[in-house]
Amino acid sequence: MAGISRKKLLQAAIIAIPAPILLGGLPAIARTPSGQPLTPTPFSCDEDDDLTPPQMEGPYFKPNSPLRTSMLDGPGTRLTLTGYVFGINCQPIPGALLDFWQADNNGAYDNVGNKFRGHQLTNTQGAFSLTTIVPGLYPGRTRHIHVKVQAPGRPILTTQLYFPNEPRNSTDTLYDPALLMTVQQVGSAKQATFDFVLNVPGTPPTSPPPSASPSASASASPSPTAPGGTWQAYVAYAVGARVTYGGATYTCQIAHTSLPGWEPPNTPALWKRA
Ligand SMILES: [Fe+2]
Repeated sequence: MAGISRKKLLQAAIIAIPAPILLGGLPAIARTPSGQPLTPTPFSCDEDDDLTPPQMEGPYFKPNSPLRTSMLDGPGTRLTLTGYVFGINCQPIPGALLDFWQADNNGAYDNVGNKFRGHQLTNTQGAFSLTTIVPGLYPGRTRHIHVKVQAPGRPILTTQLYFPNEPRNSTDTLYDPALLMTVQQVGSAKQATFDFVLNVPGTPPTSPPPSASPSASASASPSPTAPGGTWQAYVAYAVGARVTYGGATYTCQIAHTSLPGWEPPNTPALWKRA
């Protein structure tokens, strides 16, 4: 490739540098030594961060994975993966959908059930956390985790995440160092971090906090382009709540505080059309 960006060079360097040296350095978000994101400063990624590159879906994706952040469905080395989903300009994306699927400890995918499959939404800070195991190897591939990432109402990014210091990374034709997680050994488990950067606008940091009360929002400026209906932004909706939007009725699937852009047609994980 003609142009190798600064970030790619930095990420390539991750392979050779012990993880502790990287702490506080390369990851877009400041993190504690335990790998947990520091929540107050989620707006500090580099403006020139590359978009997270897409990768092939492969043959083992299945729709309708369960909503969950933990998929410890079998034996293996425990792995915690945390990170943020950013839009361009380094702004985090709350309510982004992440759908993970991976092989079990023996390198096999569950193509009948939903073992080692799960989806979740980023929180109001744009952060996610997945508890799983280190996937096993299977012929022809290096170690990897599949994921689809989607900002509300935006196109889906399908990609794969990779582990540093894997012997097969150098021979896997799909492997891309831009998709390397930062991985630390913590006791008998591994803690990994990865931040996605999607080619969509993020949420301005000036967005009202999720604690804004429904009564307060009633007097706030109404969304001028609302096509009509009872759905509103900045309202705490409980599971089972029903709203109308655009002439259709929706039922809340996950308790959440709504934000602009989370209109029911944009967030099928949150709202099911009745
Ligand atoms: Fe795979």
